[in-house]
Amino acid sequence: PSSKILIKGGTVVNAHHQQVADVYIEDGIIVAIKPAITVGDEVTVIDATGKFVMPGGIDPHTHLEFEFMDTVTVDDFFSGQAAALAGGTTMHIDFVIPHKGSLTAGFEAYEKKAKKSCMDYGFHMAVTKWDETVSREMELMVKEKGINSFKFFLAYKGALMINDELLLEGFKKCKSLGALAMVHAENGDAVYEGQKKMIELGITGPEGHALSRPAVLEGEATARAIRLADFVNTPLYVVHVMSIDAMEEIARARKSGQRVIGEPVASGLVLDESWLWHPDFKTAAKYVMSPPIRKRGHDKALQAALSTGILQLVGTDHCAFNSTQKALGIDDFRKIPNGVNGIEERMHVVWDTMVESGQISVMDYVRLTSTECARIFNIYPRKGAILPGSDADIIILNPNSSFEITAKSHHSRLDTNVFEGRRGKGKIEVTIAGGRVVWENNELKVAPGTGRYIKMSPFSYLFDGIDKRDDAYLKSLQAPVKRAKSSS
Ligand code: URP
Ligand code: ZN
Ligand code: ZN
Ligand code: ZN
Repeated sequence: PSSKILIKGGTVVNAHHQQVADVYIEDGIIVAIKPAITVGDEVTVIDATGKFVMPGGIDPHTHLEFEFMDTVTVDDFFSGQAAALAGGTTMHIDFVIPHKGSLTAGFEAYEKKAKKSCMDYGFHMAVTKWDETVSREMELMVKEKGINSFKFFLAYKGALMINDELLLEGFKKCKSLGALAMVHAENGDAVYEGQKKMIELGITGPEGHALSRPAVLEGEATARAIRLADFVNTPLYVVHVMSIDAMEEIARARKSGQRVIGEPVASGLVLDESWLWHPDFKTAAKYVMSPPIRKRGHDKALQAALSTGILQLVGTDHCAFNSTQKALGIDDFRKIPNGVNGIEERMHVVWDTMVESGQISVMDYVRLTSTECARIFNIYPRKGAILPGSDADIIILNPNSSFEITAKSHHSRLDTNVFEGRRGKGKIEVTIAGGRVVWENNELKVAPGTGRYIKMSPFSYLFDGIDKRDDAYLKSLQAPVKRAKSSS
């Protein structure tokens, strides 16, 4: 296969502009975008007439080879990424989980896991405790390891959860480093109470998962995190926004001028909680994730929030557990490993739900699935754009051919799929990653070790002018009132 590729005659779409043009690629980099490029016969030519040529998807939220709830996800950095490529995603950002509280040890473990990568990837880092060492390690991660975001869990009591005091310390550290603070927003103490209550009531099945952690607890934690980020004056990224309750807190904060980003995920945009009441345990348990998939209505509201700019980008929270692993919780929903798939389905699901339905333009699709993620995590325009000099991460989508999602034909190692049976128009026919054609004619051509670690630098656009806001606040403070020592 040649390292020179010409994509001919497609509609090239960026987040801000689209045109019919050819795209010429050499050695993994986009060299030229213009009409009627002519080349020699050493160049591989792909005809894209009548199709959309777009930046490959970037999934901001995945968990590959994740050790969680007494087991480990079935998709590792090879199988999860291969699945991603087959679905038009060419980069993902995974969450490094500290090892026994050590960020450094956690990072080294994930470096090892990622050696088999066949697609470019970056890392966020979770912070699950607080002391001087963690604080120093955060600095090391930002200054030397290419990490520019830290996630704090307000749920998973007794495991990953931290309290508000530590959250404030973490936010302050993030601000000083120019790193983006992220939160899993559910009230973990209340969830713990809710779970006990369900078990006492004899509700031990998957429906207990939804009943024990209602949307009000997501709204509460989202509001709390947003207000504490405002108090510290640092930007905030809310991961997996699943409910109207959380979304409306983000809307309110953004309306008041606060820098808050909201990330819905593919599952939350199109599914509803009724599956958790399914009489077959296996069917119900595959939908268990946290925060839970909500009642019908939340999905449509999240779609509308995406299309109007209240929410900014779409992730997946891909965290794949097989039916045998889900069965760990057959007698107690609290032991069902939390997580659903999405890394392979996101691009098709968003196209079908948002573009085919007429809610957003094709340019908006590019922004929500790729460009905005690249901007937030400071890797634009290397990623998230079809521009001269950008990485050749490109998809070709045919708006007239159909896709169908089923566990039988997907590329993840999962034996189930929460989007089972979903079909629609707009199939991603070709994926080019790092200048290589990795997906074509329904065939994957991937090799372990070809993916690269993408370092992300701090102080993204979200931090521009943050200090001026602090200065303005200080100026607005009045001088202390002078009072006499003694009164008569
Ligand atoms: O259920 C979920 N979301 N599993 C993955 C871990 C997390 O909270 O993101
Ligand atoms: Zn342009
Ligand atoms: Zn989470
Ligand atoms: Zn997650």
